[in-house]
Amino acid sequence: MTQLAPQLQGPFLARPSGPLTGTLAAPPDKSISHRALILAALAQGESRITGLLESADVLNTAKAVAALGAKVERLGPGGWRVIGTGGRFATPHTPLDFGNSGTGVRLMMGAIAGSGAGADFIGDSSLSSRPMRRVTDPLELMGAHVSSTDGRLPATLAPSQLNGISYAPPIASAQVKSALLLAGLGASGETIITEHHATRDHTETMLRAFGVRLDITGSEDGVRIRLPGPQSLQAQDVTVPGDPSSIGFALVAALICPGSRIQIEGVMDNPSRTGLIQTLREMGADIEIARGPEMAGERTMNITARHSTLRGVDVPAARAPSMIDEYPVLGVAAAYAIGTTRMAGLAELRAKESDRLAGTAELLRRNGVALEIGEDSLTIHGRGAGSVTGGGMVLTHHDHRLAMSALVLGLAAQQPVSIDDASMIATSYPGFAGDMTALGATLEPM
Ligand code: S3P
Repeated sequence: MTQLAPQLQGPFLARPSGPLTGTLAAPPDKSISHRALILAALAQGESRITGLLESADVLNTAKAVAALGAKVERLGPGGWRVIGTGGRFATPHTPLDFGNSGTGVRLMMGAIAGSGAGADFIGDSSLSSRPMRRVTDPLELMGAHVSSTDGRLPATLAPSQLNGISYAPPIASAQVKSALLLAGLGASGETIITEHHATRDHTETMLRAFGVRLDITGSEDGVRIRLPGPQSLQAQDVTVPGDPSSIGFALVAALICPGSRIQIEGVMDNPSRTGLIQTLREMGADIEIARGPEMAGERTMNITARHSTLRGVDVPAARAPSMIDEYPVLGVAAAYAIGTTRMAGLAELRAKESDRLAGTAELLRRNGVALEIGEDSLTIHGRGAGSVTGGGMVLTHHDHRLAMSALVLGLAAQQPVSIDDASMIATSYPGFAGDMTALGATLEPM
C-alpha cells in the first residue's frame, strides 16, 4: 500500500512500528553535492550534476555560487547545469546566507578567498554560534583578511591575493582541509596540508577529476597533501553517490525493529565514511554488503540489513573521523544493545549543528536509557531489544541528526517518541519521512 510522505514541519512523533521491509535508494551524499557545485563553479566550462542532493544546505551553496557569478540552472529533479567562472568569482553585493550549513560556509570561505573575491557570510542561529577560526586563522596565514565577532558569523572576507602555506590542522576536520585546498587553488606557491588523523577525502578525489594536480602521501604520521598553486579546473560531469551518513537512520531502524529486512542501494563506500557500518558489525549487526558501480570516482555498495541482536562495544577515538556525524544514531543502536557501549574521542561533537554530545545524551535519557557523559566521551548502558521505554519529548536544538535519531529510537520503543521540531531534517535529508514511511515506519506530525 502506498503511504503519503508526511510533511516535515513542527513537532513530530515516531510510533513503535512493525518490521521494516523493502528497498531504499540511498539519498544523494551531502558532502559530494556541496563539492560538485563549488568545483563546477570554479571550473572553466559547463558541468552537469546528476542526482544532486536538493536539501536546504546544498541549495544554499547553489545560491552562493550563483551570486558569485556561476550560471546555475536546475534541469529537473537532481539534475543541474553549472557554467563555471574559470576561477574568477565576483564579490557579491549582498551577504551569502548558508543557513544551517558548516560545510557550505567553510568550504566557500576557502574557495572565495582563493579566487581573490570578497564576501559577507551569514547563517541561522545554529551556524552563527559555531566556530569559524579553525578556517579563518589559516586563511589569514595565507594572506586573507577576515573580520568577524568573536570568530563566529557574521563574517566579512576582503578580496586579497593568497600565498600557499604548510599547515597541520589541530583538529581532524575535512571542512578545514577542504577550505584550505580550495584556497590553495588560487594561491601562489604550494599549499601543504598535513592531517594526523585522515578525514573524508572527497575534495582531493574530486579536485583530481576536475584536472587539478595534487600529491598525496601517507605515512605513520598521517596524510600529507601538496597542491601547487595557482591551478585551473576543467568542467566535469558528476553523478552523486548515496550518503553513508543519511542511510544510517534506516540501517539502525532495521536492526532494532523486530522482523525487519531492508536493502539500501547505491551507498558511497569510502573508508573515511564507513565507521558506523564497521561499528554496527562489531556489535553483531547482520549487514551484508555487495559491490555497486563507481560514481564520481567513489566506490558504491548495496547493503542488506536484518533485525539483529546487538551487543555493547568499545568504539575507539581513532574511528571518530570516519563516523563523525553518526554518533547520535549509534547511540540509538547502543540503547537497544545488550551491555555497555563506550564511545571515546567525541570532543568535536560539541561543535556540530548543536552540542551533539549533550543532545545525544539528553535524547537517550529522556527515553529511559542510562548513561554517563564525559567531556569527550559517552557510555551507554544498553537495555536490550524491546526494553527501551521511550515516551520522551526530545529537544532537537536546530540539529537534523538529533531529530532523525530520536525518531528512529521511537520505532522500536515501548512508547512513542516525539521531537519538538522536524523542520531541520530538510537541511540534509528532505526525503527522510517519505523513505522511512515507505519502509514501514510510522511517523506522524503532532
Ligand atoms: C563534512 C565534514 C564533517 C561533517 C560534516 C560534513 C564535509 O565536518 O561533520 O557534516 O563535507 O567536509 P568536520 O570537517 O567539521 O568534521
